[in-house]
Amino acid sequence: MMYHITTLPGLEPILEEELNELGFEVQQKGRQVISCLGTEESIYRLNLSLRTGLRVLWEIRQVPIQTVQELYREAKALPWEKYIFPHQTIAVSVSSTGSSCASLRYLTLVLKDAVVDRFSEIYGKRPSVDTRSPDLPIHLHLEGHTATFSLDTSGESLHRRGYRTERTEAPLSEVLAAGILKVIGWHPEVPLYDPMCGSGTFLVEAGLMAYRIAPGILRTRFAFQNWKVFHKALYEKVRKELAEPYKNLVEEKNVSPKDHRGQGDHAGEKECAIFGSDKDPAAIEIARRNLERAGLGSKVRVFLGTFESLLPPFPPSRGGLVIVNPPYGKRLEDPSILALYKSIGDTLKQRYPGVEAWILSANPDALKQIGLRPFKKYALKNGPLDCKLVGFTLYNGSIRTR
Ligand SMILES: C[S@@+](CC[C@H](N)C(=O)[O-])C[C@H]1O[C@@H](n2cnc3c(N)ncnc32)[C@H](O)[C@@H]1O
Repeated sequence: MMYHITTLPGLEPILEEELNELGFEVQQKGRQVISCLGTEESIYRLNLSLRTGLRVLWEIRQVPIQTVQELYREAKALPWEKYIFPHQTIAVSVSSTGSSCASLRYLTLVLKDAVVDRFSEIYGKRPSVDTRSPDLPIHLHLEGHTATFSLDTSGESLHRRGYRTERTEAPLSEVLAAGILKVIGWHPEVPLYDPMCGSGTFLVEAGLMAYRIAPGILRTRFAFQNWKVFHKALYEKVRKELAEPYKNLVEEKNVSPKDHRGQGDHAGEKECAIFGSDKDPAAIEIARRNLERAGLGSKVRVFLGTFESLLPPFPPSRGGLVIVNPPYGKRLEDPSILALYKSIGDTLKQRYPGVEAWILSANPDALKQIGLRPFKKYALKNGPLDCKLVGFTLYNGSIRTR
């Protein structure tokens, strides 16, 4: 079985690495998509485990197509009734790279008609369309004259983990936060601090990684659960296995991370030190509750205060990572935003010699105010915004500590 896993722009190599770590053999790489082979069990494992995937698409047919009529015929010939009953709902989406024989809007209609016409002919009844929460989300990808029909096994995007039921202004996508932690090479043994943590997305994602908690464990719905071919017993088996670290964490709230040393699958818990702060008391409360829901309430510390006024939560001279997602400002040249970035730079220089700092921002003018020379820059997208993730090394005297 072939799976196409979609991701955010710039995170393709990270997703590929993740798939390799999960034991999948990557077959193809594309823009915002990595493909791999798997079994029926993989649908459940991928949806529950992936940190940097958005959707797991299960390819059901790939076929050459020249015209819209051919597309209709091919789509109608597929056994959609194998997956759902006619009283259930569908949604269709179409993407294309290279030329396509018609507008995507029109192709979406053609695909929808083919599917419902097949049901009407077999049952005299057709599934309705539900674009919000369909039982069977169908995806068609056209690349030149090749059509790939897939079922979206995830349904809602996998960035919806289930822990962030409350949000602050401008929260990061969970998938982007997890991807950034991997892009910058954070490892759970390195102390991590997010001094503008907002709803705590970096903190939760880091905690989930450190304690090896599968991010989908807290999610209650995936599209595949609505299908006739859903193998519930197999799903429960995979889920039970993957839920073990979360269960242990929640049950053993008072066990110190050190007590887990030497137990292979808890390797990430060694000296894990994750901290967050924010100047907004409401954000701190939300971050605390999000961490609690993710089972990390006793593992990640958050406190109230401005970055400029707080002392480092770990000794910077021994190394560590500071990750900041400051406000970007409504206007790029907003003087208060420029001043904020200058003060972030000053605080890093004065209080954090020895750490590596990373700043994610969509405001290039403000980033210049940091006043440090970056050693690395990545281009990423935060929703529709073009962002830069910029890394700075803060030297401890003349010695680079990391
Ligand atoms: C873009 S939001 C961060 C969103 C966060 N990454 C999330 O996923 O929810 C920026 C945060 O910076 C905080 N902030 C702004 N200036 C600050 C300062 N000087 N010290 C600490 N926090 C500050 C705001 O309160 C806000 O929560």
